[in-house]
Amino acid sequence: MYKGEADWSLIAEVKNNPRMRIPVFGNGDIDSPEKAVEYKNRYGVDGVMIGRASIGYPWIFREIKHYIKTGTQLEGPTVAERVIACREHLLMSIKWKGPKLGITEMKRHYTNYFKGISHFKDYRTKLVTTSELDEVLEILNYIEAHQEEFILVNN
Ligand SMILES: Cc1cc2nc3c(=O)[nH]c(=O)nc-3n(C[C@H](O)[C@H](O)[C@H](O)COP(=O)(O)O)c2cc1C
Repeated sequence: MYKGEADWSLIAEVKNNPRMRIPVFGNGDIDSPEKAVEYKNRYGVDGVMIGRASIGYPWIFREIKHYIKTGTQLEGPTVAERVIACREHLLMSIKWKGPKLGITEMKRHYTNYFKGISHFKDYRTKLVTTSELDEVLEILNYIEAHQEEFILVNN
């Protein structure tokens, strides 16, 4: 999506300007709870924002909150939670953009929603090859109802 690395030193410069009286939030390249905390502390900002890492993985926010509170990693979402979020995203996408574009644009998100599930490839292929809402929902419902058949290899 973007190449290169975000330069947080400029954000720190703004934050550390003695005339700065408003909160400064930093963003760019935050993709884990550890990095969120590390960057917030290292650059002295009041908060961090997250873009790309939350696309298809909205659980990053609760994982960061948990890490700040406890210093430990929260378990990743279950397969069913992933389906529920993905289905809601799909339905909102259709509501916002209409069925054709809504279903098509959703295809780029399945990889992220179901990242780390072993042997998911065939389901992903089915999800991206159909353009019928009923079929997409049927596949998602199947995954949700049979979540014990799917093994999460990493989160
Ligand atoms: C899908 C998408 C849309 C974005 N739209 C805008 C935008 O309209 N204006 C803007 O200033 N930045 C936009 N950005 C940049 C983000 O606000 C953010 O600065 C950038 O993604 C770096 O943060 P990240 O590494 O957490 O993704 C967009 C980023 C993404 C991924």
